[in-house]
Amino acid sequence: MDISIVGTGYVGLPAGAGLASKGNHNVTCVDIDEEKVEKINNGECPIYEEDLPELLEKMVEDGKLSATTNTSDAVHNSEITFLAVGTPMQEDGSINLDYIKQAAEDIGEGLRDKEEYHVVVVKSTVVPGTTENEVIPRIEEKSGKKAGEDFGVCMNPEFLREGTALNDFLNPDRIVIGELDEKSGSKIEEMYSAFDVPKIRTSLQAAELIKYASNSLLATKISFINEIGNLCKELNIDVYEVADGVGLDHRINRDFLDSGAGFGGSCFPKDVRALASFMEEKNLDPKILNDTIQVNEEQKTKLVEQLQDHYPDLSGKTIAVLGLAFKPGTDDIRQSPAIDIISELKYLGAEVKAYDPKAIENMKQKHPEIQYTSNYEEALKDADAALIVTDWKEFNQISREDLQEMNKALILEGRRMEYKIDKENRKGVTWP
Ligand code: UGA
Repeated sequence: MDISIVGTGYVGLPAGAGLASKGNHNVTCVDIDEEKVEKINNGECPIYEEDLPELLEKMVEDGKLSATTNTSDAVHNSEITFLAVGTPMQEDGSINLDYIKQAAEDIGEGLRDKEEYHVVVVKSTVVPGTTENEVIPRIEEKSGKKAGEDFGVCMNPEFLREGTALNDFLNPDRIVIGELDEKSGSKIEEMYSAFDVPKIRTSLQAAELIKYASNSLLATKISFINEIGNLCKELNIDVYEVADGVGLDHRINRDFLDSGAGFGGSCFPKDVRALASFMEEKNLDPKILNDTIQVNEEQKTKLVEQLQDHYPDLSGKTIAVLGLAFKPGTDDIRQSPAIDIISELKYLGAEVKAYDPKAIENMKQKHPEIQYTSNYEEALKDADAALIVTDWKEFNQISREDLQEMNKALILEGRRMEYKIDKENRKGVTWP
C-alpha cells in the first residue's frame, strides 16, 4: 500500500521504516523541517534510535521510503495517512493540539481533489474525543468531503518506547485499531496483515483512552513500587527482592516494578498529567493519577536528600552526576530526574560534574552552568560523592580503582547497578 506519515519524530520514523520493511509498503514521511527531510532522503536518520539508521538507509536505498515537506502531495499520492505529530504539554498540564490541528487541515487540503478512498489514522497521543471533535471537522472543512462516506478515519495508538522504538514497533504486544466505521478499520487491519499479533477493533474514543490508561497504569506501577521502596529503605529491605516476589504473581507481572529515581521522558509525565487534567474538565477527581505524579515528583530528588545525610552542608562539595538521559539508549532528557537533581544540587551550593554517553549536548541547554566531562572517570575524579541517575551499561564498569580517585568513595544509586563495588561504598535510593 502507499502510506504517508505526517511527523518524523520518535513515533513517525520507526513506524515509517517499520511499515516499509515488515509491511512491504511504500512510505512517504512528511515534516515541516526541511533539514530533516533532506537528511532522510539522503538515508540519514535524524534521531538516535537503535537499529533505525541501518533500516532507514536500506529503505531509502530500496526506494520504499522517502520524505517531503509537502503534506498535500504526500496525502494525494497515498491511500492511508498517519498523523504522528507531537502533542506537547502546556503549562496547566493539558495537551497542546496546535500541531494536530494544523496537520489535520493540511491533510484535508490533500484530500480535496482526490477521488479514491483514503483513510486518515491518528497515531499521536490525544485525549478521548480529539479525533472526532478536532481532527475530523478540520479534514471535512478543508476537503469538502464527509468522514465515513468519502474518507475513513481510525485511531491507532502507538506503544513503542524510546531507545527500543523500532523493535517495539515491529514486535508489539497488540495493535489497537479505533475505527469510525468498519470499512476504515478493515483497511488498517489489512495494512497490518504482516503483524501476527492480537488486533483489537474499538471505537475511536476507546482507542484514544487505551493509550492514556496504558501509560498511566505503567507510571502508577512505578510510583507504587517507589512508595514501597521508600518503606524498604526505612526497614533496610531490598525493594528488588520485594518486586521479584510480588512480580511472580502473573496477575501483577514483574515489568515496570524497577524502583529508582522516578520516571521521566516525554510520555509518562505528560500523559498522566493530561489524563488528570482531562478528568478534571469532566468534573472528576483523578486521585490515583495525581498521587502517581506527586510520588514521582518527590522521588526525583530523594537522592539529594540522602546525600545530605552524608553532607548536611553541600556548599563547596563536588558531586558527580552520572547519567542525564531519562533512560539509557537515548539522548532525550525531557523530564529526566537528572534535571531536578542538578537544580537541587546547585541550589544547595554544590559543584556539579556531569557525564552521559549521549545526552550532554541536550543537558547543556538546561544547565549550561555546570561542568561536563567526556567520561565517567573524569567526573568521579576528586568528587565528594557520585549520584547515578541513568543506568547506562557502561557505568557497570566502575571499579574500586575509579573509587580511589574520588575524594570520598561514595556512590548513591538512583538506578540499580551491577558493578562490583564494596557494599560500604554504595547505597541505593530504595535499597540498602
Ligand atoms: C513509554 C511507554 O513505556 C511506551 O509504551 C509508550 O509508547 C511511550 O511511553 C509513549 O507514550 O510514547 P518511554 O517513555 O519511551 O515509553 O520509556 P519507558 O521505557 O517506558 O520509561 C519511562 C520512564 O520510566 C524512564 O524514566 C524509566 O527509567 C522509568 N522506569 C521504567 C522506571 O523507573 N521503572 C521501571 O520499572 C520502568
